[in-house]
Amino acid sequence: MKRIIISVLLIMALLMFQGVEASAKTDPCLNFKTISIKKGQTVSLKVQNNKKKVKWISENKKVATLKKGKVTGKKAGTTTIKAKIGKKTYSCRVVVSDGKKKSLVVYFSHSGTTKKVAKILANEAGADIIELCEKKAYTQNYNKLLKVAEKEQKLDARPEIVTQIKNINQYDTIYIGYPIWWGKEPMVIRTFLQKYNWKGKKLIPFCTSGGSGIEGSIPGIKKYAKKATVLTGKDLSDMSRTEISNWVKSILKNNIDVTTEAKQENEDKKKGEGQ
Ligand SMILES: Cc1cc2nc3c(=O)[nH]c(=O)nc-3n(C[C@H](O)[C@H](O)[C@H](O)COP(=O)(O)O)c2cc1C
Repeated sequence: MKRIIISVLLIMALLMFQGVEASAKTDPCLNFKTISIKKGQTVSLKVQNNKKKVKWISENKKVATLKKGKVTGKKAGTTTIKAKIGKKTYSCRVVVSDGKKKSLVVYFSHSGTTKKVAKILANEAGADIIELCEKKAYTQNYNKLLKVAEKEQKLDARPEIVTQIKNINQYDTIYIGYPIWWGKEPMVIRTFLQKYNWKGKKLIPFCTSGGSGIEGSIPGIKKYAKKATVLTGKDLSDMSRTEISNWVKSILKNNIDVTTEAKQENEDKKKGEGQ
């Protein structure tokens, strides 16, 4: 009996110790690092894992105002929201668009699968649509295409494209679609991304694939669409019109950068390390 009691006490002590360790690891962080909203739209910022008093500051109140963490877009532009807790500061970049701009679906498709979902997407999003065409047509021979695509990826090639988007400035939201080739976006997508200035634009990747999913292509999209706000993308393979429609609605409703919900590093800690 004595042994059992000692064992139970030991287990309880161990559990309590683990609990302390776990809570010590969860530092305060903002729920968003970047938000992209339209003029008049409001999004709530929260400092997670925090019970202390927060002082909220908007660096440019003409672009976005603040009320207890509630950010409201006032005019097109960019500002930084700061949450101060004691000596520590947590920041969130806010991009406000005027809401007058249009959406565009740009896609590359070799065998028509991505084209099909791109058309549904454009329809559901009320967006213009443009097909991205390569200058030197890819072979229709599947095995040869596999080799060509593999080589392009290895060489980090930039196959030429003939498609041009006239007045890209009229769009603030651009859906970019492609098939997954060797786990990533085809190199023509990189050619396209490097041709334009993405500052102030939201880029929403979508793809079709044989099962790999979109994840492997996201680093390339983020790297080559410099300064774009890249939202969480989706593999739309085999998705019905209703499913695509629901996805579009969730993007339009939130219109926030859901890719940046990840735990925010403590900026002061970072600054300290950099010194
Ligand atoms: C060159 C090449 C490479 C491919 N690599 C992959 C891959 O790595 N993972 C995957 O799931 N599907 C892969 N696929 C399948 C395509 O992503 C899939 O069939 C896609 O839906 C084709 O879209 P499209 O008809 O718009 O061209 C590959 C297809 C080709 C032609």
